[in-house]
Amino acid sequence: MKINESTSWKKLEQHYTDLKEKELKDLINDEKRFNALSLQFDQLFCDFSKQKVTEDTVQLLLELAKEVRLPDSISALMQGEVVNTTENRAALHTALRMPQSASLIVNSEDIVCEVHNSLNSMADLVHKLTNGVWRGFNGKAITDVVNLGVGGSDLGPMLICDALDEFATMPNNPINVHFASTMDGSQVHDLVEFLNPETTLFVVVSKSFSTIDTLSNAATAKAWLMQACKDEGLISKLHFIGISANPKKMSEWGIALEHQLKFWDWVGGRFSLWSTVGLTIALKIGMEGFRQMLAGAHSLDEHFRTSPLKNNIPVLLGLIGVWNTNFMRIPAHAILPYDARLKYFPSYLTQLEMESNGKSVSVEGEMLDIETCPVLWGEIGPNAQHAFYQLLHQGTRKVVCDFIAPIKRFEDQSSELEKSLHDQHMLTLANCFAQSRALMLGSRTIDSSKNIDRSDILSNHKYYPGNQPSTTILFNRLTPYSLGQLIALYEHKVFVMAHIWGTNPFDQWGVELGKIMAVDTLTEMQKNEYTNKFDVSTNKLINFVKSNC
Ligand code: F6P
Repeated sequence: MKINESTSWKKLEQHYTDLKEKELKDLINDEKRFNALSLQFDQLFCDFSKQKVTEDTVQLLLELAKEVRLPDSISALMQGEVVNTTENRAALHTALRMPQSASLIVNSEDIVCEVHNSLNSMADLVHKLTNGVWRGFNGKAITDVVNLGVGGSDLGPMLICDALDEFATMPNNPINVHFASTMDGSQVHDLVEFLNPETTLFVVVSKSFSTIDTLSNAATAKAWLMQACKDEGLISKLHFIGISANPKKMSEWGIALEHQLKFWDWVGGRFSLWSTVGLTIALKIGMEGFRQMLAGAHSLDEHFRTSPLKNNIPVLLGLIGVWNTNFMRIPAHAILPYDARLKYFPSYLTQLEMESNGKSVSVEGEMLDIETCPVLWGEIGPNAQHAFYQLLHQGTRKVVCDFIAPIKRFEDQSSELEKSLHDQHMLTLANCFAQSRALMLGSRTIDSSKNIDRSDILSNHKYYPGNQPSTTILFNRLTPYSLGQLIALYEHKVFVMAHIWGTNPFDQWGVELGKIMAVDTLTEMQKNEYTNKFDVSTNKLINFVKSNC
């Protein structure tokens, strides 16, 4: 049966009709509401009370979750059943963060044991690099490691390395990490401008080891190294590590067997930062930091697996996401971290959510007649206040927002500098709370009278309608552990939403067409004659480049 024909969906539709005319301002002043609509787990605190939901809404959403047997689906995910049906595989990112003492048998193998073996291989490379044991072609110790990858092979490690800079094991660790992903070569170009080929190592990260973006960057990196040392064998052996689920392709490319880190096809690219794909993270914050991040994510997995649905934060985050998408019909979702250390979190989540849930076909292959993933984007909140918040406050479109902030930051106030930084943290939190309140109440935040006379007090230009829903997610401090929890929270939210919609969040067939077309296009572009192979616009663009290049 289609989800929108289910009893609980119909009840939610009716409930929405009853709630439609109410505004957030009408709901918010119920004293019990905050307690009923906020949840805490370990380092995380989630306030859903600024969402346009009531306790009844949540009750009905929970009924929906039960009707589609969400708990069974969570167990299936975590036990390694084939949940990625179009690729006929499990999606076991949760196994990557299980403790060594655990065990999970999939296809007669204890994959937890395999996972920890691969972490040990990674630890070995981390040790060699951070202790100056790994030497380049002329015997100098490696000082710079460049992660070459794209999508899931780039965004997660980059987010975490950037966010956890203060956990870097420097100064004892001489390694600086860098990232290059774009196929246009600009990033690699900028890096090789200042890096020294004698002391630079490239980590080629690609689950498939066939992504042209990454392989073209790796080819440029090799060409740069070859200018300094003509011995290709030596370069490949001493200046490249490969991380992939495709060892054959790594070997064909020339990565030495002992410098290949593997992971498995049951780890989706955008869920892979917990695997050996996280090598740069471990190089930056040490294996101990990496393991704390895994422990944080694992604790959230356990919360997701064992908590009753009504106390389950990722379940509620996902269900309220469904409510906003399908009943409130809100097409856009802004991710707003109030902490510059999380500047890559919005980009990371755009891949996680939109590549997972940007689907219009059900698991059974039927076209859906309900909406799925909203358009997600975001920016560091305080900066976005001076950029796109105008649209949030006064645009014509409904947007749901996630406000994300640490509770504690710059705690040591023993110097004037530290006091000033602490004040800045309070200022930031004040802005975070003020913005979600202004979005909720609009002009009523400055005049609480029920009926604002817009012609008198505020002109239309200055009027804020409010009624924009948001969730606030607070975490205690930004640490490897809490960041692990935060990321796992969103991973599971994505899974919950996909399950309700009946879609597969673990494939991404929609990205394939562009890759195939690019090959044909390049062939035409490389010819010494004008093309008329494609549509008129494409032919003209190619020919325009040919005549101007
Ligand atoms: O093209 C999309 C995609 O396959 C993502 O799913 C993935 O994270 C990215 O490309 C990189 O893929 P790979 O790790 O195989 O190079």
